[in-house]
This record gives sequence, structure tokens and C-alpha cells, in this order.
Amino acid sequence: MSSPRLRRLLAAAPVVMALALSPFAMAAGPSTAPKADISKGQAIAGAACAACHAVDGNSVIPSNPILAAQHAAYIAKQLNNYQVKPGATKAERENAIMTGLASTLSEEDIRNVSAFYAAQAIKPSYAQDKELVALGQSIYRGGVPQKNIAACVGCHAPNGSGIPAAYPRLSGQHAEYTKAQLVAFRSGQRANSAQMMSISALLSDREIEAVSVYVAGLR
Ligand code: HEC
Ligand code: HEC
Repeated sequence: MSSPRLRRLLAAAPVVMALALSPFAMAAGPSTAPKADISKGQAIAGAACAACHAVDGNSVIPSNPILAAQHAAYIAKQLNNYQVKPGATKAERENAIMTGLASTLSEEDIRNVSAFYAAQAIKPSYAQDKELVALGQSIYRGGVPQKNIAACVGCHAPNGSGIPAAYPRLSGQHAEYTKAQLVAFRSGQRANSAQMMSISALLSDREIEAVSVYVAGLR
């Protein structure tokens, strides 16, 4: 590693790479976001998160969300929302357990642990009750026009995979967790999404139950 020629070559390599990639870089816009380190994220997950979310993010406890294959930007937003920011009296998304944990994470930790979970494969789940599933499917795909409830499909995609950086994955999530979130958005207890608060405000208990069971079986 000490020859001056090798050092010059190594020093020049990133420039060559950057030139070769520049048309893409220009098309995608300049990216200043630091790269995530998945192995550091795995270490955090194993030490601090696995007890509740499982080593690979496929939590088996219905009240603990599955994090596997969730979009990294969404996970990072939630971890930020759980933190009580300086000057604020409460977190944007209140939860005693997660606020305590998220507060111990730096921005870098959040980036790394989010990338780790996003890279894990989700284990397929299944939906039970046929009648509920049928109602859930009609809400998911078509909304409830007479109540002006938007179709979930418009933002969360036909297969529930969401859209990276914009809309979270819902497919395969525990029905119990999804239901709890819709109830929390409806009551304002979860107040970190104006869109979801206004949509869930219009949903009845049965509609919430149905759509939660339906998305659990999506893949
Ligand atoms: C003691 C159990 C426990 C531990 C440990 C734990 N979590 Fe959680 N986590 C939960 C519960 C319960 C929720 C649902 C909270 C709510 O309703 O807002 C949750 C929610 C989340 C969410 C929101 C998911 C979504 O779909 O919106 C993220 C992200 C998350 N946890 C990440 C982590 C990370 C990263 C760690 C480790 C640093 C961790 N959790 C450790 C119990 C835990
Ligand atoms: C206009 C776009 C839009 C529509 C339509 C929409 N959502 Fe969402 N949804 C979002 C956004 C954005 C978030 C992320 C909120 C956040 O950042 O915390 C979200 C989050 C959620 C969550 C929380 C996921 C988690 O892991 O905690 C659930 C559950 C959910 N939506 C269910 C639904 C259901 C069911 C419908 C249809 C009745 C629906 N959404 C329609 C935009 C939408």
C-alpha cells in the first residue's frame, strides 16, 4: 500500500468512477446522503431490538410490528418521530417503549438499523375470516365512496408494498398492529401523518378490522 504510484492510482479511482457515473448522478440529482452500514445496523438490531421485533424483523408478537422489508426511509422517519426533540414536550409519535429506545439512537444508528431491517425478507402471513377479507379488499381497492374514504391502493400499492420514501409497506403486517395504528390515527393518539389521520377519521371499527385483516394476507 506504500508505493507512490499505487497511492496515486487509488486516489484517482474515485474521480474516474465519478466521471463514468456522472450522467446517472445528474439524472438522479446530487446525492449527499451518507451511505448506511448494514452490518452496524445488524449489531444494533441484535442488541437492542431483536427481543421484540425478532432478529430478522419478522416479529411473532402481534402487537410488535414486523419491520422486515419495510422501507428504510419510513423506519427512519418513525424512529425520529418517537424521539422527543429538543424544545418539544412530547414525541410526534408517542409510545413509551419506543420513545425510550429511539432516544438512545444517533442519526447514524437510525440510518444503519433502518437499512438493516429494509434488507430483510418478510415471511409470508395469511388472512383468515373470508367475509372480513372481502370487505377489507373492497375498502383497500376502492375505498368507501359514499363516505369519501380514499382507496388505500392509491398510496400503498396494489400488493401493499408501499412506495419507498413515500408510503410504508402494509403487506404481511400483523392485523392486530395495523388495527391499533388505524385506531391511534383516528383518535389522534398517533399524530405523525395528516393524511392517515384524515382517512382513518372516517373508518368504522368494522372497516378498520376488515382492512387490517386483508393487508395481513397481502404479499
Ligand atoms: C420492548 C419491546 C420493543 C423493543 C426492544 C423495540 N421495539 Fe420497536 N416497537 C415496539 C412496539 C410495541 C411498537 C409499536 C408502537 C406503536 O404503536 O407506536 C414498536 C414500533 C416500532 C417501529 C414503528 C414501525 C412501523 O411500522 O411504524 C419501529 C420503526 C421500531 N419499533 C423500531 C425499533 C428498533 C430499531 C428497535 C431497536 C433499537 C426497537 N424497535 C426495539 C416494541 C419494541
Ligand atoms: C394519500 C395517501 C394515503 C392513502 C390513500 C392511505 N395511506 Fe396509509 N399511509 C400514508 C402515509 C404517508 C403513511 C406514513 C405515515 C407516517 O409517516 O407516519 C401511511 C401509514 C399507514 C399505516 C401505518 C403503517 C405502520 O407500519 O405503522 C397504516 C396502517 C395505513 N397507512 C393504512 C392505510 C389504509 C388501511 C388505507 C386505506 C383505508 C390507507 N392507509 C390509505 C398514506 C396514505
